[in-house]
Amino acid sequence: MPPPLTVSRSSIGRVTAALLGVAFALVATLGGQSPPVPAPPDWVDPEAAPASARIDELRREIARHDALYFKQNTLEISDAAYDGLKQELRQLEQSLGQLPASAEDSESVIGDDRSDEFPLVSHQQPMLSLEKAYTESELRAFITRVAQRTGRSDLRWVVEPKFDGLAISVTYENGHLVRAVTRGDGHQGDDVTANVRTIPELAVTLPSTFPRSVELRGEVYLDYAEFTRLNQERDDAGETPFTHPRNLAAGTLKLHTPAEVARRRLRIVFYGLGAWDGLPLPPTSQQALHARIRDWKLPGVESVTTAQTSNEVWTAVTQLGRHRAALSFPTDGAVIKLDDVALQHELGDSAKAPRWSIAYKYPPSRISTRLQQITLQVGRTGIITPLAELEPVVIGGTTVARASLYNAEVIARRDLRIGDWVFVEKAGGIIPVVVGPDVRRRTAALAPYPFPQTCPECAGKLVRNEGEATTRCVQSDCPGQLRRRIEHYVSPDAADIKGMGPVLIAALVNGHCLKTVADLYRLRTADLVYTGGVSERVGRQLIEQIEQSKKTRLGRLIYGLSIPGVGRAAAAEWAAGLENLPQWQATTPAPAQTYLSQVQNRALITDLIAFGVCPKTAGNASSKGPLFGKTVVLTGTLPSWNRAEARQQIEAVGGHVANAVSRRTHLVVAGENPGSKLNEAQSLGLEIITESELKKRLTP
Ligand code: IVH
Repeated sequence: MPPPLTVSRSSIGRVTAALLGVAFALVATLGGQSPPVPAPPDWVDPEAAPASARIDELRREIARHDALYFKQNTLEISDAAYDGLKQELRQLEQSLGQLPASAEDSESVIGDDRSDEFPLVSHQQPMLSLEKAYTESELRAFITRVAQRTGRSDLRWVVEPKFDGLAISVTYENGHLVRAVTRGDGHQGDDVTANVRTIPELAVTLPSTFPRSVELRGEVYLDYAEFTRLNQERDDAGETPFTHPRNLAAGTLKLHTPAEVARRRLRIVFYGLGAWDGLPLPPTSQQALHARIRDWKLPGVESVTTAQTSNEVWTAVTQLGRHRAALSFPTDGAVIKLDDVALQHELGDSAKAPRWSIAYKYPPSRISTRLQQITLQVGRTGIITPLAELEPVVIGGTTVARASLYNAEVIARRDLRIGDWVFVEKAGGIIPVVVGPDVRRRTAALAPYPFPQTCPECAGKLVRNEGEATTRCVQSDCPGQLRRRIEHYVSPDAADIKGMGPVLIAALVNGHCLKTVADLYRLRTADLVYTGGVSERVGRQLIEQIEQSKKTRLGRLIYGLSIPGVGRAAAAEWAAGLENLPQWQATTPAPAQTYLSQVQNRALITDLIAFGVCPKTAGNASSKGPLFGKTVVLTGTLPSWNRAEARQQIEAVGGHVANAVSRRTHLVVAGENPGSKLNEAQSLGLEIITESELKKRLTP
């Protein structure tokens, strides 16, 4: 079962673009290998409670994390911490005789991903979980157990990567894809067919001999490249980035807009079988199943190894472990399966997991280091993000010196204290996360961390609304926020004023030359030279750059304003069809209403207009517009434009709209109920985008 992760989506503060930048920068490979570290205790002191009370506490805590993960798509602890809770529960249950001898029960509790928002469908065969092994000896014990139960010494094993995504069951009837259902409670799951159909590598028809009906089991996941791309987009729109590809995949699979799902490029892989009805007969081994999946041109597991002895299995598992970091998709273990289907049937299943398979979970790359300081970062919309300043350590080959602590709640729940030894690991193998303190190494002198009441930049009182985890600085003249807003305004995707770096901006803000973004247009060369400290020549170049930026396109300019929740996509969408700032101001799209209701923001826009910023969008773009020479096909109902409007917009920037999909089509714009054109586009591997993506592409 996918465990929950480190941070709660709803309760964490926004990680600013800079922080995400730091996170990505920090994971840039610097070489080195981290020594093994013992598993961290959870931040609930295990010694504090007698075993039975601790069992209750653990069960409640695990149930709470399951509910957070499955029902609310939120995360509070890391995979490793979650697995730690489950392992501790299992050990305590066993020690108190509360559990049958098998490790299967508490280890393989099946969660429930049903969200009440999709039609429910019953699986023909239940979707089980897998028993887990965390050590070599647990894995070897499993192999011995199977050998004993079957009375065979010549067993053949198959070792596959454990894909870290969401389990899915896809049914083909008479060779046609008819349904895709999540695991749900193992018996009944959410019908997410429309979303799964958008996955380009998923064939909608099987090419060769197939049974009347077959349930194929597999995993929907996001590869690292797409995870990074989507998270950057989220961050860009002022939304909290996900810490783990699995969670972003989970959120995506449960969207109600298939066109948006299509834009996110989910992946799918098949590794198992549910019900099989009709001839030909089902494959008689796991290897034959892999071959059948390949014959059907479906995405299958590529790195499969076979093994016969327990030593060979262990070698295959450790080899996969070494190779794992180089894979393009997230894995959290190896799955070891008995190859022979007849033997699988002989062994059968427990209530929750098959007796012929086990998942070996790799220990996460984790290390302990000193929490030297907690600093607060002020974002451009006033959100305060606490950062852990760590004694630099190498984790999984990269140096980590900083990690987001997200918000005050996270620090309090984990009881992190400055000076603590803390366990740090990489969520989803990418973003460094402080899992919790090593309480055994804590000295009495360390005091709980009092979250500051005032802004480190402007000393204004920080505000945390009832029921919200986010703390904000609400001073409109906070220099920290102002610097961030200006840095954002001059960035390449906004007004693109080259040469205006953070150091120069800080000097100009400190020297009172910049009090608002519009003050950029009041700057004179002398300000840049005497307050900014640049040379006369650089000063003149900067003034020229600032002047140039007045021609910024409307979408980029709106993006540059740092309106909460408005990223590049939303800004471009608003700007489409509008000419200039006054027009935009007059339409007051909903998310901008709060922004425009504030007097200083209205004053800023009035100033920008007065300086001649963003006069008119270029009207003659058609000859060499952004879609010049491109053939676009529209399918389904678009959210805001009818066909004629969409056609007009595309043609205005040089594109051509065709009725049918062919190999010559460059782009397919898909809306609600897209129909067969979408399927055709998928099978041709064409680029499929949403209306909002189209709007973005209309402005270069
Ligand atoms: S076989 C009867 N093979 O791991 C269970 N599962 O923790 C059959 N998973 O529910 C599952 N990669 O979602 C299998 N190569 C693989 C897998 C895999 C990932 C997932 C699957 C399963 C979970 C168990």
